[in-house]
Amino acid sequence: MTNSPETTLPGPIPAPRTCGAARKAALPKTPPASSADGGGRPKARGARSEPPHARRTRFVDPFQPAEIRRLVRKFGSPLLILDCERVRVQFRKLRAALPRVSLHYALKPMPHTAVVRTVLQEGGSLDLATSGEVQLVRRLGVDPDRCIHTHPIKRPPDIRNALEFGVRTFVVDNADEVRKFERLAGRAELLIRVSFRSPGAVCDLSRKFGCDPEDVLSLARLAAELGVTVRGLSFHVGSQAADSAKHVEAIHACARLMAAGRRAKLGVLDTLDIGGGFPIDYAQPVQDIGWFCEPLREALDRLPKRVRVIAEPGRFIVGPAAIAVASVMGRSRREGHWWYYLDDGLYGSYSGQLYDHARYPVEPLKDGGERLPSVLAGPTCDSIDVIAENLLLPKLETGDLIVGRAMGAYTWASASEFNFFPKSTVVAVNLTPGDTGAVMPFPL
Ligand SMILES: Cc1ncc(COP(=O)(O)O)c(C=O)c1O
Repeated sequence: MTNSPETTLPGPIPAPRTCGAARKAALPKTPPASSADGGGRPKARGARSEPPHARRTRFVDPFQPAEIRRLVRKFGSPLLILDCERVRVQFRKLRAALPRVSLHYALKPMPHTAVVRTVLQEGGSLDLATSGEVQLVRRLGVDPDRCIHTHPIKRPPDIRNALEFGVRTFVVDNADEVRKFERLAGRAELLIRVSFRSPGAVCDLSRKFGCDPEDVLSLARLAAELGVTVRGLSFHVGSQAADSAKHVEAIHACARLMAAGRRAKLGVLDTLDIGGGFPIDYAQPVQDIGWFCEPLREALDRLPKRVRVIAEPGRFIVGPAAIAVASVMGRSRREGHWWYYLDDGLYGSYSGQLYDHARYPVEPLKDGGERLPSVLAGPTCDSIDVIAENLLLPKLETGDLIVGRAMGAYTWASASEFNFFPKSTVVAVNLTPGDTGAVMPFPL
């Protein structure tokens, strides 16, 4: 990774307020130790000497071992190190791969202030799906014109909150949802979400949401009868797509439906939202994003020029941008294996192994020595809380650090505090390129 040009925060985002929860979140999870033991226990004293968002003269990769150790000494363990420089790189890669597409970062995989700010600095927009996400961006002073609301099923207060904030574009996928906008004609416009089943995706999101393609025109007709503008169509072929064939099929099908809807004068139909699904490397590498998007670009080039195309990438933007760092709390020898019990696990940052079907590359920071059959387990009392088995690892000691890679998406966001084991502290580094890291207030 190279030095980046200086970027400044966009004007409308004021400094976030520090609330009680934020101050609490800033406390290190591991009790401070009087001296660093090389195994990651925090050294509270060194921490105070460095101001928040201290700057260096040159860019230092926060995923390098020495930096990981420094950050754990300062912020404690478990720690999620979020590198905004990598967020920038991912955003730019996707923008280069889809030059015609306006990228709306979907907050759900990592609803964090630093990611929102970085995406906005890059000229991106946002995809919101809940009142909590609306509240987060509202408190950050984000321009609502840069936001869309894409949850197909909404409670009336969810619609109210988003409208009060200033969001205009909403997603629907059935007649009941269309009717929720009857009295809001003129204040809101709709994208109709279409279902394209995708058994090849790791998470097939069209099983739960989206109408059948055959029902699109009748929903558009209902909206027209109620005086509600249908701006266009949307789809999400599923997260971590195996290839782009489903995206291409969905783009062609939506193009036909939009043309039919316009002929029947059922809406403006000048917007196509192609969702997310852009894959990243985990334990298994995937196609480079440029190659993945090539067929999509060709399909999009065949759309009429008046059609505005947007996407809602989540995983691709933030997945590779964070690593999870856990410490060994204790160990035990069981049936010929070393079991290492970490302060993070399946109920914490590794929750994505259950909910998101992900397998993160995981390794100790320590190297060398004989490799022995080992198991990495989480801290809770539940026997399901095992991160990885049948590993060959050097012999670890209490306090040694374990690093999980590609852990920015659907990890911390879905973590719980079961057994009162706290979620990881998130430290954002390189919010302005070169800053040394800070725990940011969570403005809810
Ligand atoms: C409506 C919607 N948009 C965007 C996303 C983000 O998808 P991905 O992380 O695959 O890019 C999701 C994921 O669940 C979603 O449900």
